[in-house]
Amino acid sequence: MNAQLTPAAINPELDAFWMPFTANRQFKANPRLLARAQGMFYWTQDGREVLDGVAGLWCVNAGHGRHEITEAVTKQLATMEFAPTFQMGHPLAFELANRLAKVAPPGLDRIFFTNSGSESVDTALKIAIAYHRARGAGQRTRLIGREKGYHGVGFGGMSVGGMVNNRKFFGSSMLPGVDHLPHTLDIEHNAFSRGLPQWGTQLANELERLIALHDASTIAAVIVEPISGSAGVVLPPAGYLKRLREICDKHDILLIFDEVITGFGRIGKPFAAQAFDVTPDLMTTAKGLTNGAIPMGAVFSQRKIYDAFMQGPENAIELFHGYTYSAHPVACAAALAALDIYLKEGLLTRAASLSAQWENAVHSLRGLPHVIDVRNYGLIGAVEMEPRQGKPGARGFEVFLKCFERGVMLRQTGDTIAMAPPLVILPAQIERIVETLGAVIRETA
Ligand SMILES: Cc1ncc(COP(=O)(O)O)c(C=O)c1O
Repeated sequence: MNAQLTPAAINPELDAFWMPFTANRQFKANPRLLARAQGMFYWTQDGREVLDGVAGLWCVNAGHGRHEITEAVTKQLATMEFAPTFQMGHPLAFELANRLAKVAPPGLDRIFFTNSGSESVDTALKIAIAYHRARGAGQRTRLIGREKGYHGVGFGGMSVGGMVNNRKFFGSSMLPGVDHLPHTLDIEHNAFSRGLPQWGTQLANELERLIALHDASTIAAVIVEPISGSAGVVLPPAGYLKRLREICDKHDILLIFDEVITGFGRIGKPFAAQAFDVTPDLMTTAKGLTNGAIPMGAVFSQRKIYDAFMQGPENAIELFHGYTYSAHPVACAAALAALDIYLKEGLLTRAASLSAQWENAVHSLRGLPHVIDVRNYGLIGAVEMEPRQGKPGARGFEVFLKCFERGVMLRQTGDTIAMAPPLVILPAQIERIVETLGAVIRETA
């Protein structure tokens, strides 16, 4: 291969940082540098105010610069910056697990800490496989994900995920024994649905087809996002998640909800499991857990799963899994402070009271040039535009850039613009996001 070095960059000081999920060359030629944040806003390095329409990266649910979190983190750093949780412990880890169990969906009261959504997903998949083994069903190793699913970037999450760009570059380096349900995005039947689409519940029955193909006795778990964000906001048809739950129960297969985005109030209840009244066996979280302030994730497990591991000699480790920074004391302090804010300010349910205004606002974009769908639920919204011929994603990227230039930060996936503002957003700020996006779409060819 003829390895060519890239030409000297326009901004060489930006070269060393290999940016994640970023068009590095485009960014480094036209950087978008955020320097400060408070409340609903970022400020760029050159002092421009930017309204945050996507809660940082779906994580700053209580808004930016929360001094309660800063103080808790600072205090914990001064008291004890690190303590191991392998064969040792510290009080904040137990306090946080107890507090989280109280806001969790019914029964999900055993909590394993990680440092990210990706780690939460890989942890949940491993727990599912090891759980069956602990029950004497070690042949149940197969995992079922879903097309368009995003479960982070670990090998497990990548394998059960279904976003083609996240998979195709890594060839056959996927977990073996993984299959996928069809995705539930159907613009032909469901375009411009308000809230959950009504068509498509039967897509859950595809799970029966996969079970018939592989046999239930080989399947450990099904993992889905109740609402997927990264694929451009894909909603479950009404009744779909309940049907998945029924089929999993019938065949003794664990159901995992990946709530990394939907968790901590995003759709009007603490978790989507409660909003949709469907309780999974395992639930993965991260992001809003600490309001994005310190990296942390958590896997919520049904007690029956934890109990299945609690056998054998009492001095033996039951689950050979964990991270140096599982339940890091500084992250625990941040999560406890975030939870205090969420509860005190009613943020775990605030999206429910804003969702009608939000729905009307985002659906006002219907009818604008190139708009082929508008989707919403809780404080999540998406506008999908038709792609330019031969240039998928180009229109979406241009709209994203122009919105940023006009002071509104959103998220782009292909030709879909996703919105998920901090849950402290004010009604007037909802209008500003949608007006800016609408004006930009109108003038983008
Ligand atoms: C549903 C879901 N799972 C997992 C992840 C991965 O989380 P992280 O980037 O913290 O590893 C994400 C990130 O957006 C996500 O949306």
